[in-house]
Amino acid sequence: MRKKIVAGNWKMNTTVAAGKELAKNIVAALDQVPKDVQLIIAPPFTHLATVADVIKGSVVALSAQNCADKAKGAYTGEVSAEMIAGTGCTYTILGHSERRQYYGETSETLVAKMALALENGLSPIYCVGEMLSEREAGNHFNVIKAQLEEVLFGLTAEQMAKVVIAYEPVWAIGTGVTATNEQAQEVHAFIRKTLAAKFGKKLADDVTILYGGSCKPSNAKELFACPDIDGGLIGGASLKAEDFIAIARSY
Ligand code: PGA
Repeated sequence: MRKKIVAGNWKMNTTVAAGKELAKNIVAALDQVPKDVQLIIAPPFTHLATVADVIKGSVVALSAQNCADKAKGAYTGEVSAEMIAGTGCTYTILGHSERRQYYGETSETLVAKMALALENGLSPIYCVGEMLSEREAGNHFNVIKAQLEEVLFGLTAEQMAKVVIAYEPVWAIGTGVTATNEQAQEVHAFIRKTLAAKFGKKLADDVTILYGGSCKPSNAKELFACPDIDGGLIGGASLKAEDFIAIARSY
């Protein structure tokens, strides 16, 4: 049985103080969240240790938004998977489209990041998704297949079992435009089929696949009702505890 997950990607938002408050408000509302839903929050690096303290002992898990593609050493400004794990994180987002688009992240760097995250006991939340032009050209399945093959197909089955996938169509991120349930379900089923061909049906059936892109309390219920959608990676709506919790109640 695969996990239901609702993960909040705070991106480059909140100060440490505001992040602490947000985490506190989430923890305070946990009695409203069904027991079988895993909540994850991904604050900026600077907040991880502080937020780890706030959520200690609760069911909320901590995630980073990225990790370095090198283990350690003279890489000014980078944060390693080992450092992240040391804060109490158990997940890290990898390959978010904003990192691919604005920071030139490639499959090659993502292979290195994936390996380091896994080596340090972090479960990667690996993001895939097409740009608007790619969907309009009818090329979205090819794009997503390449993103899966290039970064995940070198993993062992044991490693792959630790990976969570997030399908985030780039045209739906932060735009208010959500993929329709049919569009999202179609891609989620395709992702599962692609993973099954490489890792076998059993493993693919157990992989949690999240939808991301303008997911909010008003549309989460319909999205989460789709057979291959196991939860959400939430950006904007995860910055309000009330909305984040409402999404987690949408199964
Ligand atoms: P959004 O972002 O919910 O603000 O669209 C989702 C994401 O990029 O993870």
